[in-house]
Amino acid sequence: MSDRVVELVALVGSLREASINRRLAQLAAENAPGGVHVTVVDDLGTLPFYSEDVDPASADDTELDAGVARLRGVVGGADGVLIVTPEYNGTIPAALKNAIDWLSRPYGSGALQGKPVGVIGAALGRYAGTWSREDTRKSVGIAGGRVIEDVELGVQTSALPDAGVEDPALVEQVVVAVNRLVDEVAVRA
Ligand SMILES: Cc1cc2nc3c(=O)[nH]c(=O)nc-3n(C[C@H](O)[C@H](O)[C@H](O)COP(=O)(O)O)c2cc1C
Repeated sequence: MSDRVVELVALVGSLREASINRRLAQLAAENAPGGVHVTVVDDLGTLPFYSEDVDPASADDTELDAGVARLRGVVGGADGVLIVTPEYNGTIPAALKNAIDWLSRPYGSGALQGKPVGVIGAALGRYAGTWSREDTRKSVGIAGGRVIEDVELGVQTSALPDAGVEDPALVEQVVVAVNRLVDEVAVRA
């Protein structure tokens, strides 16, 4: 691989002020290996709900929302995407699904097209958000992303160690996930 910095973007599926998933994304950024930069995007709730009526790809006389344009720019310019998400009612939080929908358009050339994507996250239940991560991978794959299945980490928030998500063993697991994603960028480069 060249000496160029590998740019990853971490999309946070929770909008909550004290979000554990946001903290996991920040830990990924703070502990990124040398030569890797992670941009954390935690404002997916500011995007309008996707509708073909407000998407210039399918509606004339419509301007692309500035936040959507920004998100597409950040994701499109990244070498890989790390999604860090909780589970809501057994699946993907709406704000994250909405972002995936925006990133899936224009059809066939959306910002996720061909991009390596890993999905990790934290959730309360004993399966630690497995359904949400599975559904996120399915959706991202259909949206054109290249899902890296073995970037995998599910943190059960009801059984965190004393140090919470700052626990060194847990941080190490985040680093392993980031490294695995970076490997895929290197393979593709
Ligand atoms: C509307 C809603 C639905 C939820 N559904 C699930 C669920 O299906 N499975 C689960 O493990 N946790 C569920 N939870 C708990 C979240 O996983 C937990 O609140 C998690 O910490 C949220 O992530 P955050 O700290 O990043 O905001 C739900 C929480 C909310 C608010």
